[in-house]
Amino acid sequence: MSDLYTLYQRRASVRKFKSEPLREGDLEKILFAAQRAPTDATAQMYSLLRISDPELRRKVSSHSGHNPHIETCAEFFLILADVYRLRRLVEHRGGVFGHWPRTALHFAITDAVLAGSALATMAESLGYGIVWIGGVLNGIKEIKALCGLPQGVVPVAGLCVGVPEESPAPRPRLPRELVVHENQYHDYSPEALEQAYAAMAPITKSGDWYRVLERYFAQGGTMEAREPAYQQLSAQQGFEPDLPAELLEALKEKGLEAGSLGQLIEAAFAQGFRSLQFHHQGYAWIEKEPEAYRGDGKPGEALGKALLQAPRERVIP
Ligand SMILES: Cc1cc2nc3c(=O)[nH]c(=O)nc-3n(C[C@H](O)[C@H](O)[C@H](O)COP(=O)(O)O)c2cc1C
Repeated sequence: MSDLYTLYQRRASVRKFKSEPLREGDLEKILFAAQRAPTDATAQMYSLLRISDPELRRKVSSHSGHNPHIETCAEFFLILADVYRLRRLVEHRGGVFGHWPRTALHFAITDAVLAGSALATMAESLGYGIVWIGGVLNGIKEIKALCGLPQGVVPVAGLCVGVPEESPAPRPRLPRELVVHENQYHDYSPEALEQAYAAMAPITKSGDWYRVLERYFAQGGTMEAREPAYQQLSAQQGFEPDLPAELLEALKEKGLEAGSLGQLIEAAFAQGFRSLQFHHQGYAWIEKEPEAYRGDGKPGEALGKALLQAPRERVIP
């Protein structure tokens, strides 16, 4: 227990690695730890994809923002939310896999993070450096294709593990009172928010944490840029309740990508359709005079099917 306490007192993400492999037997230990992590209903809705092929590593790195450590670390894993294997298991015994896409994504990400976290902590306890790579979301579609991820599988993050060539000082955290609530969620006073900025200032070059938050999380920032591809990929992988993944695949082949029913409606308008009608009897019409196309099913399915019938046309900006 005290060892783990010491580890957490000292730990910091490492981004510079020696070009050395893990010691013999350590890969087995970190994978063992990952698999010992708790998982929802013991269903193990995650997978780890170890990328040992240097060329694939280079390609994945090139789609992951500026993270050269992906190529220099001894081991690189994609941490995957995965309900594909669970579906296979259910279908293998003749079951019909249920329709619970959002809940599936919720628990699959939870399981994946817990497994990755156990792997990371075991690696750090063995003296290795680690760093998580959310940058994989920058090229999530390309990485899905490069790694052959089937429907039901979505990259959550990458994880670098290797022999450290730096030992950075522990980085600051928010004041405890802002993070830990008791019984009722408490709101944040302007003074408390300023305390947060003061606590996090040392992590920045400029001394102003707001500049970091702005770059990532404000309007026009990195997260907004990642959002469309993440929405589209998670929908194509079967995690969007209103849009069947097979239909999205067929629409994609026609050059039409959407990650939500709203985006599909916008795509229809962009194709020049002037009106869409959803009928309570389970069909939809899309129309641009003199053409009209019909699709059957629930609203998302019906609209998608109607769009599939329409010839692909110039997108109207
Ligand atoms: C989900 C997640 C994604 C991250 N993505 C990246 C990344 O793409 N590149 C990187 O260099 N560090 C990444 N990090 C590392 C964080 O920047 C780091 O954990 C944070 O600055 C706190 O520093 P510490 O881990 O040294 O305490 C990520 C961490 C997490 C948990």
